[in-house]
Amino acid sequence: MNLKRRHFLMFMGATAGGTLLNLTDNSFSMPFSQVVAKPTNKLSFKPIKLPLPLEINLITSEQQIKTYSTYQVVDDLVLPEDFTYDIIAAWGDPIADSRFGYNNDYLSFIETSPNEGYLTVNFEYISGMTWMTTYEKVIGKSLPFEEVKLALKETQGEINAFALPNNNPLKNQIIEISKEGLIDQGIGIISIRRNADGKWTRTFSKADRRITGISGLEDKKYLKSTGPAVAVFTKANKRGYDDQLGSKIIGTFQNCAGGTTPWGTVFSAEENYQDQVFEPVFADGTSFDPAKKPFFINNAEIDGRANVFGLASNKYGWMVEVDPANPNDYGTKHTWLGRFRHEAVGFRVVEGKPLAVYSGCDRRGGHIYKFISKDLIRNPQDKQNSKLLERGMLYGAKFNPDGTGKWIPLTLNTSIDPVLPSQIVARQGISTIVLPNPNRIEGGIIAHSKDEDIASYKQQFKTLSDLYEGKPAEKQGAILIDAHFAANAIGVTCTARPEDTEIAPDGTLYITFTSGTPGEDGGPDKNIFKGPNGETSYEYGWIMSLNEDQNDPATMSFRWKMFATGGEPTQGGLGFSNPDNLEFDASGNLWMVCDMSTGSHNDPEKPLGIFGNNTAWFLPTSGPNMGNAYPFAIGPMDTELTGPWFTKDQQTLFLSVQHPGEAKGIRQNMAFQEQEFTLRTTQGQEFIQLRQVPIGSNWPTKQANDPPRPAVVAIRRLDNKGITTVWS
Ligand code: FEO
Ligand code: CA
Ligand code: CA
Repeated sequence: MNLKRRHFLMFMGATAGGTLLNLTDNSFSMPFSQVVAKPTNKLSFKPIKLPLPLEINLITSEQQIKTYSTYQVVDDLVLPEDFTYDIIAAWGDPIADSRFGYNNDYLSFIETSPNEGYLTVNFEYISGMTWMTTYEKVIGKSLPFEEVKLALKETQGEINAFALPNNNPLKNQIIEISKEGLIDQGIGIISIRRNADGKWTRTFSKADRRITGISGLEDKKYLKSTGPAVAVFTKANKRGYDDQLGSKIIGTFQNCAGGTTPWGTVFSAEENYQDQVFEPVFADGTSFDPAKKPFFINNAEIDGRANVFGLASNKYGWMVEVDPANPNDYGTKHTWLGRFRHEAVGFRVVEGKPLAVYSGCDRRGGHIYKFISKDLIRNPQDKQNSKLLERGMLYGAKFNPDGTGKWIPLTLNTSIDPVLPSQIVARQGISTIVLPNPNRIEGGIIAHSKDEDIASYKQQFKTLSDLYEGKPAEKQGAILIDAHFAANAIGVTCTARPEDTEIAPDGTLYITFTSGTPGEDGGPDKNIFKGPNGETSYEYGWIMSLNEDQNDPATMSFRWKMFATGGEPTQGGLGFSNPDNLEFDASGNLWMVCDMSTGSHNDPEKPLGIFGNNTAWFLPTSGPNMGNAYPFAIGPMDTELTGPWFTKDQQTLFLSVQHPGEAKGIRQNMAFQEQEFTLRTTQGQEFIQLRQVPIGSNWPTKQANDPPRPAVVAIRRLDNKGITTVWS
């Protein structure tokens, strides 16, 4: 909507959609401190005060300047009044023979009886600096970080530790560090119960377990694999590296978001696997040598943690299915869903139809994919539905600027018709599209920035079959292993870092696109991803809604539109930035959490600094408040809120609080700094805000000098009524 019209309607007492808003009688005359949090009735909570004014505050520019001229950021999970949270588990807590990992992300609660069930938790990554400085305090043992850094000084912290002899002391130290890092990634299953007072506690059932980055390495608890890539894992005469494990897989890591099936299993998404293993592959889909992604350590990061164990790179970047209730299940990677930087997964399960599974690849220029099963769903609750993942086809989405789109199959006979560099938002004047290297003996990938190069590429290769090697089944496996680059080669649309893919009760797919800024290896399509005033390279993100034609999960065409846009209100945004995970409540309204990059929080020098800490939001999908976004929570210092999950009764919202203290580490002696921001009112008037910002974090204990620990919380109302019960 045109910005001016939006403001005009607001002051006429109407919503963006033109419907009369039920304003509380005295909204305009209340004291400022109360006004900022009470804009609209018929909400289930009183929106919290953010560092920047929002249109929903419904106060004049003058009032906004008075209200927002000072602001205090706090190192806590800030919730609306009458809400509270309890910690369920934090990094280092015991789980069976292991521990609760680092940077908890996706959460899935599967109820086994009233007030009881399995909470499955993803552990995405370790925040290098904070993990190293707090590891000993939290885990209770030391690791040889300084010794290894010193030993690798000459090589800038890098080494192919895999090639070192087994009795080499440095290799053993690297094994020790890599192992602990990989143990803190993966999946955890804990059993929990809600007591009469509304608080959740752990019950430590026999099914509690960890699936880590090294499961299988020493305990033989390998992960399994299904689908066409198995033909590549098991083939003889590989062009590349062979881990000698066939279809068995060691571990899972970089487990970001996920999805939960109606048949009671949880899918966990392996996202930034390129941090641990080398992403490109040979033309036959086999891995490069582990040397391609060496171990690396400095004061900020520890990467390449798979290197020393010689893990095969083509076995990471998949979706992992696990049945929390089965204590012997250590996960299955379904390769029909493709190998890319999976953020999450959305299941469309309609009886009598094929299964449709949606997933986005969270990279700049990453794609949206849909798998359609060959067989039909008979009973959505049947655990045999996992078998539907073993036969079908993977498609990539092509978005047209007119709001239509189609699905393109990632298979042998699909024509090569690459995305043109000129379609992509440029970074420093250069637009990039990365394709499988035309030298298929060398394998890997190559970046193109000229449309002319693409013409010769099309001359050389006619179909995907020409790009990949092996028997037909092996070629299909190689295509799925190389999915992102294969999708670029067949013209699947490059998007704006897709995060969550969540399906509404009516079948509409909602997709968060977190950032339209291009990067070194790609960017979004400039005709699709535009800001409210037509801007390309729009950082603040969008939520898109996508409807399949005829609402048919198996159709090949769809319609799309932007449902909500991030950004500053005065620029036409809704006041949030970088939307990430989504969750529907029982009424079909959306809850969303944001992921602004940690280094930008509260930094007056960075455009994102004005937004403060990361936040959680409520976005009505219907009714008079549709089109607005209401802030529900603010995370502690340097955190990202992830994994929102409502219990069926809506009384609890489980939430992951990821990476406290990631930028500034342990908060020392309750230190804070005063920051000065130039803000704008929703009407565009500039003013200065003095903001008090804690330096580092002690969350969750909030005790001075305590190490910050990622943790999972349960949010509830103090009266234990449903969180989505309308507040009045
Ligand atoms: Fe791990 Fe895309 O967030
Ligand atoms: Ca995410
Ligand atoms: Ca994220």
